[in-house]
Amino acid sequence: MKEYRILPDAEMQKQNEYIAKIRALVLGAKETAGEVKYAFVQTFGCQQNEADSEKIAGMCVAMGYEICSEPALADLIMVNTCAVREHAEQKALSIIGQYKHLKNAKPDMLIGVCGCMVTQEHRKEGIKHSYPYVDFVLGTSSLHRLPELIYTKIQRGKRLYCPEEKEYLVAEGIPIHRESTYRAWVSIMYGCNNFCTYCIVPYVRGRERSRRPDDIIAEVRELVEQGYKDITLLGQNVNSYGKDAKSDDGEIYDFADLLADIDKIEGDYYIRFMTSHPKDASNKLIDVIAESKHVAHQFHLPMQSGSDSILKAMNRHYDTEKYLRTVDYLRKRVPDVTISSDIIVGFPSETDEDFEATLDMLRRVKFDMTYSFIYSPRKDTPAAAMDCQIPDAIKGERMNRLLETQNAIALEKNKPMEGRIIKVLCDGPSKNNENVYSGRSEGNKIVLFDGDESDIGKFLSIKITRAETFALYGEKI
Ligand code: SAH
Ligand code: SF4
Ligand code: F3S
Repeated sequence: MKEYRILPDAEMQKQNEYIAKIRALVLGAKETAGEVKYAFVQTFGCQQNEADSEKIAGMCVAMGYEICSEPALADLIMVNTCAVREHAEQKALSIIGQYKHLKNAKPDMLIGVCGCMVTQEHRKEGIKHSYPYVDFVLGTSSLHRLPELIYTKIQRGKRLYCPEEKEYLVAEGIPIHRESTYRAWVSIMYGCNNFCTYCIVPYVRGRERSRRPDDIIAEVRELVEQGYKDITLLGQNVNSYGKDAKSDDGEIYDFADLLADIDKIEGDYYIRFMTSHPKDASNKLIDVIAESKHVAHQFHLPMQSGSDSILKAMNRHYDTEKYLRTVDYLRKRVPDVTISSDIIVGFPSETDEDFEATLDMLRRVKFDMTYSFIYSPRKDTPAAAMDCQIPDAIKGERMNRLLETQNAIALEKNKPMEGRIIKVLCDGPSKNNENVYSGRSEGNKIVLFDGDESDIGKFLSIKITRAETFALYGEKI
């Protein structure tokens, strides 16, 4: 028997009681004065935060609020923040600053700040002192306590700063209000144990804890039954799934086992996952993908750097040789797989040679896509205290060269798609041109085509007529 670290039912029950009390207040106002209460949820950061925001919205709906897309309309604004880079924090602080005038115009409005940024003590303090109109702050360990906080705030009127829990546990049963009716996030685990030296995530998300397999499989099954077509399993390092669950009989149930079990669910859907840490991306996992019916042939495998000495300084626990072995096995077992990666430029002490080694790896691996980031020192992480921080001008130059190199590779990878017919899940009108519809391929590439409203959320067959660096263009057949 495996033992998973789940929050006790009694705690969730307590929150459900708060939900019921707030619901009575919110719906009471609607009945007596015809007033609808609106909640607005704003999200910064990664998919994990997007998934959390769907839980925040889910709790708001359960409390009787309707979700709106305009902060000015809202009676409750929740800002779900990110701390991964300085820029992310500055953006969140600037938005919180802009909400001051909304609050002045509507003093009854509640403003809550949650997420990774305010899980850091200094940021919590900063909000306390510099943003006095923020009503409450809660970090990632206590997201499930949102109803309790809102109720206490309404009753007592005082500003509230929810302390972090001593132990970060999995909160099961929070209602989810999903943004899409055909793409869904499913968190399978929370937290991170890896402590890459540049990264703030382990400090703001706590240690790894996995959800029970049955809970995950039931959630995916329900999504497939509801017609969801593209489901992404989320975790900071999905390859660690299950390792934190104590077992008294040495039983192992890892991510590959979970993926294989999910794949047994019948239906027309893709399953994806992110993120895989290269140090423990196993051949067993790759075999499951190769033999599966529903796992998309797409793999996000953040390399971070192509220099072995930088990888060591990053505490990544793999070298370029191990990385290339994984890619080779992946391409052997899943020949049509698209591979994407995250790259950091300008990590402390990165020399020109180190950076050239990264470019070399890009040329060798030929990623379909990369997400590249300029190194941003994060408070209290080991890399922020390292000597030899790289000047901004050099970081910028390296970033430009990286993008130039990768763009040429992406185009080269996309060109052979011309003339092919591929399956595309349609998302709707594209952001830049309303007359062109946009969707994603199995490999998660953006595909643009002539579509109409009835295509949204459906799989289409698209013949690719032109391939460019960032998108494939085609027509419906
Ligand atoms: N758990 C995932 C990703 C977490 S954050 C993983 O290990 O891959 C997403 C990406 O942000 C990371 O892959 C990394 O490339 C980037 N990142 C994290 N900390 C950063 C920092 N301090 N500066 C710049 N980029 C960073
Ligand atoms: Fe950050 Fe590394 Fe954990 Fe990813 S694996 S979240 S980069 S510490
Ligand atoms: Fe994600 Fe940002 Fe937190 S990347 S885990 S929201 S620090």
